[in-house]
Amino acid sequence: MGRGRLVFLCISLALLSGCAPGGPAAETGGDARIPEEKLIAITFDDGPRRETTERLLDGLEERDARATFFLIGRQIEGNEDLVERMQAEGHQVGSHTWSHTRLTGVSADTLRQEVGRTEEALEDLLGPGSYWLRPPYGAVDAADWDLIQTPMIKWSIDPRDWEKLDTAQVTAAVLKAAAPNQIILLHDIYPTSVDAALSVVDALQGEGYRFVTVEELLEANGIQPEAGVLYCSGDP
Ligand code: NI
Repeated sequence: MGRGRLVFLCISLALLSGCAPGGPAAETGGDARIPEEKLIAITFDDGPRRETTERLLDGLEERDARATFFLIGRQIEGNEDLVERMQAEGHQVGSHTWSHTRLTGVSADTLRQEVGRTEEALEDLLGPGSYWLRPPYGAVDAADWDLIQTPMIKWSIDPRDWEKLDTAQVTAAVLKAAAPNQIILLHDIYPTSVDAALSVVDALQGEGYRFVTVEELLEANGIQPEAGVLYCSGDP
């Protein structure tokens, strides 16, 4: 999909705009709690896709691992059972916009529509809730952050699975970077990424990690997520 250039661009933009690692709680310097276990969050973008997401859910269930799914809104139709299953099995469900639109350089109306339409679809299916946003390419113009009604989540470990399309390489890249409180980015639309994700879970569980949702990761570190703020990890 020619994403290489876009992703590079997005990384540059993100460096300019900056995440909020630690978030508001760390700034106030007070009550960050240190989790007793090693926690890590694994996140999946660009789904749901029945051929791959279903197998991933089976594997996560077998391993008792929680994940976070940032869904493309227009792909929900026809996959409602998978999305309901995510919620029922303790995973966090969030939005990756309606049609995977880059949210930089777009009008406020486009931004509201891309985000709002997905939120509506998720509320219709799963009930009222806060469906956190992962902006495509990790980027939203800083001037538009106040238009976003939920926390925004980026990542701290990106093995570029969409580019490698190789289970062993993706697994190795994630394991090399793995550390407590990090947020791993993968895409559950590739069979190689599903296989890599399950290998990563096996390896890190063997090292004493527990896989939690992004929301659980921030909470465990005393971070109170705020709307319109971009978080890249759970580091307090
Ligand atoms: Ni994406």
